[in-house]
Amino acid sequence: MDPALSATMDLNFLEPSNSPYLLKNHLLCVPAEWMLVPEVSESIEQTKPVVKKFMDDMEFRNDAQPIDFPVMDHVSTHLPNVYSIPVFSDNFCMMVLDEINHIKKTNGFSVNENESKDVQIEEFVLSDKSPGWYYTMWQIIAGKINVVFSALFNKIVTDGVIQLANYNPKEITQTTWHHDGDADITMVVPLNTGDYEGGGTEFWNLGTVDPLPNGHGLIFPTYSHMHRGLPLKSGDRYLFVFWLKQLNNEDNKYGEEKNNSTPAES
Ligand SMILES: [Fe+2]
Repeated sequence: MDPALSATMDLNFLEPSNSPYLLKNHLLCVPAEWMLVPEVSESIEQTKPVVKKFMDDMEFRNDAQPIDFPVMDHVSTHLPNVYSIPVFSDNFCMMVLDEINHIKKTNGFSVNENESKDVQIEEFVLSDKSPGWYYTMWQIIAGKINVVFSALFNKIVTDGVIQLANYNPKEITQTTWHHDGDADITMVVPLNTGDYEGGGTEFWNLGTVDPLPNGHGLIFPTYSHMHRGLPLKSGDRYLFVFWLKQLNNEDNKYGEEKNNSTPAES
């Protein structure tokens, strides 16, 4: 056979050579529109100039309403300050599920022994296992999802943990009441709703949210919303989990000026 025809495509250059886990689906390392729900992505682009105006124009800001932000048309409110929005496309969710199957075959999922036993879920932390994919997901957060956080909370995030989580009845079926570490905003995205029984999220003193459709982000402020995962009766529940840190004042210009000031000036 012609060597050109028998050669396999090598896309390993998309990942750092020291990556502990080698992706099966290298397209996950290329941030692109197909990963997102098209109408929502378009609304996000339409919302960007509104966010800028909200920041820059005090008069506009004073009269602004959520309806002024086009992306809010796609947001559902489930409980006080608990929202959802369709974020990731079906094709993206399917590719991530395919990657999860590969991760499981290579024993890539593990529990975090540093967490207390009652919240230990099988997980795959992108920054540790697949830095190239982690970087890509940050492009999506920074370039797209931050606009949603701006419209909901007037906050953007600049850091955080991104991981895949696997709930199943064989190990731990639910978590107890907790906050998500030191995150400020949590976004949880189901990847295989319909393939398992049970699940969902309960919020302290507020109520429960059933498993959302695949690709929908469940978004809430972490500090104020203690929560727990509800028991799974059968199957495996896979989630894309984002524990996100908001822009720290010390990272911006105001913070620099403040840090550089002498005690007499402050
Ligand atoms: Fe949590």
